[in-house]
Amino acid sequence: MGRVAELAGVSVRTLHHYDEIGLVRPSARTRAGYRAYAAGDVERLREVLAYRRLGFGLREVAELVGDPSVDAAAHLRRLRGLLLERRDRADAMVAAIDRELAARAKGVRMTPEEQLGMLGARLYDAIGGAYTATRRTDPRIAAQIRDALGDARTVLNVGAGTGSYEPSDRVVTAVEPSAVMRGQRPAGAAPCVAATAESLPFDDHSFDAAMAVSTVHHWRDPIAGLREMRRVARRVVVLTFDTDEPGWQDRFWLTRDYLPEFAGVLADLPPLAGMAAAIGARAETVPVPWDCADGLFEAYWRRPEAYLEDRVRRAMSVWTRVGPEAEQRAVRSLRDDLGSGRWAERNSGLAGLDAADLGLRLLTG
Ligand SMILES: C[S@@+](CC[C@H](N)C(=O)[O-])C[C@H]1O[C@@H](n2cnc3c(N)ncnc32)[C@H](O)[C@@H]1O
Repeated sequence: MGRVAELAGVSVRTLHHYDEIGLVRPSARTRAGYRAYAAGDVERLREVLAYRRLGFGLREVAELVGDPSVDAAAHLRRLRGLLLERRDRADAMVAAIDRELAARAKGVRMTPEEQLGMLGARLYDAIGGAYTATRRTDPRIAAQIRDALGDARTVLNVGAGTGSYEPSDRVVTAVEPSAVMRGQRPAGAAPCVAATAESLPFDDHSFDAAMAVSTVHHWRDPIAGLREMRRVARRVVVLTFDTDEPGWQDRFWLTRDYLPEFAGVLADLPPLAGMAAAIGARAETVPVPWDCADGLFEAYWRRPEAYLEDRVRRAMSVWTRVGPEAEQRAVRSLRDDLGSGRWAERNSGLAGLDAADLGLRLLTG
């Protein structure tokens, strides 16, 4: 234990504490019968210490390293993304400080917006670290996207995130503004450019097709981004959300009964008809399978207990956008209704369904 503590730069007391709380347990034995760290324990200790150094609390670290679906390579990618994000943010802060010092030297005062702007973070730089826990390609949604891409050979994936839904049988280029998300793209994933949809750094008609999945509602200017996609590609495929129908918030029990604030999250999303018109597209429904593999907001419509899990919610931007108060209230109320049977009573019709139309639409133009 002493040797491991020395190598890791922590005290033996810390290692004892991790052992006591079950975070990292030395599982091997020395010849003399003392407990010792096996290779897997050292790997886990390294992950624990790295997450701690990044500022995660012990409980959060336990949740992160205790997730059986995340292997060592995935942890390394996530850590890498978090570190890159830190570096990017530090670079941006240094640049902002230099600008302010230069302005001060000329007697110019920065506005409050400019002063606070240096602290600003993009949503996905803040939450992206939790994304890979549950977000991955769902094969049925992927098949619908693949059909829509038709025979396109070169494909631009805008707002690509960690690369879900990127077809492996085409030549893909990805665009992703968040360093955290870029950092978590698997080894061998398509090359990724740091840019935004609203200003794509490509010539007109550079690609056979451009695709965007579950990202348009995050864009500062969705219509401008869609027009950019139209400019750089001959075909445009977009998975987005339909808020045209009156009462659309009532399609999903989660937003209808527990989180009415969801309407505010999509308040700036243009009407589906307007988005379709921007790319000359037709819309088709994308049903959400009951066992959807991609942990998107609507994924667990038939598995309500999942929304009680913090790691499930952390990979859905909606919860961060509505804020902790609404989140806690919604979760508390859902937990109560699941316990009392009220949820089951209200949603008895769902048990027999294999897929549901919860407003996801695929635009193809
Ligand atoms: C819900 S994730 C979807 C990622 C991926 N397409 C998927 O389906 O898993 C939304 C992504 O949009 C990105 N994003 C946010 N603003 C953007 C913008 N203006 N242009 C392009 N992407 C943006 C975020 O950084 C994030 O990675």
